[in-house]
Amino acid sequence: MNNKLIDKIEQLKQQRRAVILAHNYQPGEIQDLADFGGDSLGLSIKAAETDADVIVFCGVQFMAETAAILSPQKTVLLPDKHAGCPLADMITAEQLRQLKQQHPDALVVCYVNSSAEVKAESDYCCTSANAVEVVESLPPDRKIIFVPDQHLGRFVVEKTGRDLVLWPGYCHVHVVITEEDIKNAKAEYPDAVVMVHPECTEPVKELSDQILSTGQMLKCAARSTAKRFIVGTEVGIIHALKRQSPDKEFFPATERAICPNMKLMTLEKIAWALEDMQYKVTVPQDIRIRAQKALDRMVEIKSKK
Ligand code: 13P
Ligand code: SF4
Repeated sequence: MNNKLIDKIEQLKQQRRAVILAHNYQPGEIQDLADFGGDSLGLSIKAAETDADVIVFCGVQFMAETAAILSPQKTVLLPDKHAGCPLADMITAEQLRQLKQQHPDALVVCYVNSSAEVKAESDYCCTSANAVEVVESLPPDRKIIFVPDQHLGRFVVEKTGRDLVLWPGYCHVHVVITEEDIKNAKAEYPDAVVMVHPECTEPVKELSDQILSTGQMLKCAARSTAKRFIVGTEVGIIHALKRQSPDKEFFPATERAICPNMKLMTLEKIAWALEDMQYKVTVPQDIRIRAQKALDRMVEIKSKK
């Protein structure tokens, strides 16, 4: 059954001149089908670089929106229109405008997990892979507002020593990973390297060996001489890690860390997306141009590395 569906998707992909991008949290069969997998930063760059006419984005709304901002001439499809990110919805453009009024001299850095409208109100965008570099690149005498994830924000404060104005947003998937989970996993696998995402809470991060974006976790696992890893992020990454390093073992810190929005994607929905060219993700021109500035600045900083 799946083989037939996969053949159908491949045929539709050629017909539409499409590429399929899949985030590291996607269901395994979608990761396997995708032309490119990756973290938010890697996928944004792929979306901007591809010469395909159509991008099928297997991820969540803000990721597809980012692709639409960076590549306005391409058609970006999100196979399930309900795949949102509750963290991104934790701050509105109006709330950010009010915060900016309270700190009129501040520069605004927004995490890519945010709406296009919030990006348009920001000076710089960042992902979990480059938040530290983005903040480090800013003039040391400027105040910085960082939205919406407080935990990524605190990680940046810790790494840069800069005093950021934080917004109290959080990812409901990462905050379910507890200190207890990490301690139990370490007791069971004492030789394992503990990798956690910066969206985790501070006590969890303190117990880890490495604080990394999902793309960085893949690189770390490939380069490390260690054979076992405890992984504190959404469980979908385990598939990507095992596929890349079949000789190593990966243990989720907890099986409870599941992002329901990421799991809305199915092979059927990808086929329907390509058949009916749905659901198109577009960003109004005035917002797009302002949001693109924040994203372009981020990509420039990354490319210096
Ligand atoms: P990455 O950019 O590290 O893949 O993270 C995206 C995300 O949504 C984390 O919850
Ligand atoms: Fe958003 Fe959290 Fe899901 Fe990432 S894991 S997409 S931050 S809800």
